[in-house]
Amino acid sequence: MTSIDVSVSLADRSYVVSIGPGVLDGASGRLTALTRARKVPVVTDSAVAGLHLDRLRAGLAGFELVPIVVPAGEGAKSFATLEQVVDRLLALEVTRQDVVIALGGGVVGDLTGFAAAIVKRGMNFIQVPTTLLAMVDSSVGGKTGINTSAGKNLVGAFHQPLAVWADLDCLTTLPPREMKAGYAEIVKYGLISDPAFYAWCEANAARLLAGEAGPLAHAVAQSCRAKAAIVAADERETNDIRALLNLGHTFGHALEAETGFSDRLLHGEAVAIGMAQALRFSARRGLMPAAAAARFTQHLEGVGMMAWPREAGIAPDAASRLVAHMRQDKKRTSDGLPFILARGLGDSFVAKDVPLADVQAFLETDLQHVPSERAAA
Ligand SMILES: NC(=O)c1ccc[n+]([C@@H]2O[C@H](COP(=O)([O-])OP(=O)(O)OC[C@H]3O[C@@H](n4cnc5c(N)ncnc54)[C@H](O)[C@@H]3O)[C@@H](O)[C@H]2O)c1
Ligand SMILES: [Zn+2]
Repeated sequence: MTSIDVSVSLADRSYVVSIGPGVLDGASGRLTALTRARKVPVVTDSAVAGLHLDRLRAGLAGFELVPIVVPAGEGAKSFATLEQVVDRLLALEVTRQDVVIALGGGVVGDLTGFAAAIVKRGMNFIQVPTTLLAMVDSSVGGKTGINTSAGKNLVGAFHQPLAVWADLDCLTTLPPREMKAGYAEIVKYGLISDPAFYAWCEANAARLLAGEAGPLAHAVAQSCRAKAAIVAADERETNDIRALLNLGHTFGHALEAETGFSDRLLHGEAVAIGMAQALRFSARRGLMPAAAAARFTQHLEGVGMMAWPREAGIAPDAASRLVAHMRQDKKRTSDGLPFILARGLGDSFVAKDVPLADVQAFLETDLQHVPSERAAA
């Protein structure tokens, strides 16, 4: 199977996302075309280092890789780890034309991208995403950053990579739960504006989640095309276009806050429930047929994903707390909190006039739904 190339068109910051099994096998040729440097720092986490660093090293024969290993997990998106990465890069005497590779999930990608953005006021970097979420979302678009005690992703920069190498073989070691979390961001692109892709997702999700290369390649490529189009139209999130990528995220973010941003609920899991909620809320407001919202809920259930807040352990009386979390949402402006709502499956829009009292009334009803027992897939 040959790889699929998706272009992200951003004038002189344009780049290509290469997608397919074995992409890393040809990494040497790809890198030679992008840099004259022979010494290449690779930031990765302690879990991914043991799984995929050797493959990257084999693919980059002829280059000297210098691993910079950070702890696995969200905690690495910190000032302390950023400082360590920056210090290591400076100790290697990198120049702005040198390349640092981010080998890992969204955490490594966001951290490395931000380090690359600030070292010498901006050096080159390449994203080698190893989670499905990173392949379809975080590695494309140039948002980089870290978390602070005040919240997630509050410090960062827009810094586009020089290239993205999405080798589907990396996904063979990814736990099923992380695959499903990544799938949430894939089906999101269908729900935003692509009814045909949404229908494709319904028909192919099971094969994709089982790791079949064909469906995975199509889904990752389609997601990157969708994200690339949105990013090209609105690189720095200055209008409503890029905001559509937040479908399910305002509801989902409140669920993440309610579960303490812990392993109890992964970001993608929260987004899946959040999208189901956004559609059920849209139906309640008469924007779309209730049957369409139910169809998405059933799709998630059909592939063994959570679709209701109670499934994530959210308490039945949590509505007011969830709304309180929404009030803290960083997307809130003086105009209120924008919600991404839908007129149908594949027809979403930004709504700025949604009273939080209506959201709370919806949540009170939504939290009454006790999920039936079903085998965890
Ligand atoms: N920049 C953006 O536009 C953007 C978009 C979405 C999400 N994000 C960020 O991405 C992060 C989440 O990314 P993530 O879900 O990839 O999390 P992650 O990077 O923490 O990876 C999840 C876990 O999987 C492990 N892992 C990674 N690749 C693996 C593999 N191939 N096999 C086995 N285990 C593997 C990691 O060690 C980690 O424990 C968040 O910090 C979020 O804010 C950024
Ligand atoms: Zn997301």
